Amino acid sequence: MRPPWRSDAAVLLKGRNCERVHPFLFGNHVVTADEHRRWLEKRLAATDLPIFVFLQENKPLGMVNLTHFDKEHARGEWGFYIWTADAPKGAATAMLSAFLDELFLRRKLRKLCALALASNEKSLHLHKKLGFTQEGLLKEHVVKNGTPQDVVAFAIFDRDWRSKRKDFAAGIESVVFS
Ligand SMILES: CC(C)(COP(=O)(O)OP(=O)(O)OC[C@H]1O[C@@H](n2cnc3c(N)ncnc32)[C@H](O)[C@@H]1OP(=O)(O)O)[C@@H](O)C(=O)NCCC(=O)NCCS
Repeated sequence: MRPPWRSDAAVLLKGRNCERVHPFLFGNHVVTADEHRRWLEKRLAATDLPIFVFLQENKPLGMVNLTHFDKEHARGEWGFYIWTADAPKGAATAMLSAFLDELFLRRKLRKLCALALASNEKSLHLHKKLGFTQEGLLKEHVVKNGTPQDVVAFAIFDRDWRSKRKDFAAGIESVVFS
């Protein structure tokens, strides 16, 4: 797992726009290359918003990042995806566990929030498995392809992750940061 390089721009763009990922993001439009380049430049400059590309045998499979950070309250929100169909089972679990360690153990985040479409069963399962609790249900919070959709609001605190992380030790140990 490593921060993105400028040369990753194309693979990251393809990932966020692909059919395995795009239907689960809140935005409706297909992100253009220019828009994506501007986003990546901004993200490379934002040291308080960590972003990592997840690779296996040097092949990028996915991405995880902090999308919002509030220093005063030591609170953040994340976003992530795995875009390859041939990613090994548990890829997201390992990537997210390693990132939770980065946020809570090294960056001393206190609370991490997450928003997921209520129809995104895989993501709901993943958040609960990692120890997030549901804090709310935001009714018709986004309009996806013309249809209003409910959104589940999750959160996890540093204390929750410190007691939960042992269940994910194998995945965490398999991830090398560079
Ligand atoms: C969500 C996503 C990251 C999961 O990636 P992944 O590599 O398949 O994840 P993992 O293999 O680590 O874990 C998936 C878990 O979901 C479970 N799962 C798979 N399909 C499921 C379904 N339809 N309903 C509920 N759980 C499901 C798996 O069994 C596994 O759980 P387990 O380890 O307890 O068996 C990936 O599908 C993705 O990028 N989706 C699109 C973008 C997205 O939704 N991002 C999150 C926005 S909040």
